[in-house]
Amino acid sequence: MQTAAPFVPSSATSIAELRAAAPGCRGCELWEPATQVVFGRGDEHARVIFVGEQPGDVEDQKGLPFVGPAGHLLRRAVDDAGLPVTDLYITNSVKHFRFEQRGARRIHKTPEQQHITACHPWLMSEFAQLRPSLVVLLGATAAKAVLGPSFRVTRSRGQLLPWPASAQHPEDFPSDHEATALATIHPSAVLRADDREAAFNGLVADLRVAASALT
Ligand code: URA
Ligand code: SF4
Repeated sequence: MQTAAPFVPSSATSIAELRAAAPGCRGCELWEPATQVVFGRGDEHARVIFVGEQPGDVEDQKGLPFVGPAGHLLRRAVDDAGLPVTDLYITNSVKHFRFEQRGARRIHKTPEQQHITACHPWLMSEFAQLRPSLVVLLGATAAKAVLGPSFRVTRSRGQLLPWPASAQHPEDFPSDHEATALATIHPSAVLRADDREAAFNGLVADLRVAASALT
């Protein structure tokens, strides 16, 4: 089984230490064609963690998560929903860009369960450092990474869920840390939607529910 586990410093006491170790990860094959690893960023003491899918083309080049079109849309949605922007940390389920080269273009390829599983130790190390109160899962990949492979965003989006109790296999997660999780659609899905305004409003409505868990 592919796993990042041997590359994650178990003695790390900060996100900075984890981030410094991430470029050395060879936990799956995705590191090789990618430009660089894209680790999470944000407040080291954030109460809210956003989890996306994987870096996109722009993120792969800049080395930072959610700095492309999906990131801009997400920032607007977070503002509209009244989430505390200074209190956020944002990361991805898979930390290298998975793509297919077509001529000069790099076409995004959805990560497979094996990549989510391989990269999981990094995500859990971020959770262990941050110990967030609220976990916002953006799209199916993040929801599967944190709640289990059978979770369906379409069916259960916008609900406040106790975590890890609501995960398919809660025993896979640290038992000494509890948070509220909420799954919603991915900002890239808003950008692709036929009715973008309705999709955006749906995202904001879900994020408002998430914000209510913080007060
Ligand atoms: N989409 C994601 O899921 N993550 C990013 O960092 C950028 C786009
Ligand atoms: Fe390691 Fe994750 Fe990158 Fe795979 S995608 S090499 S597990 S950091």
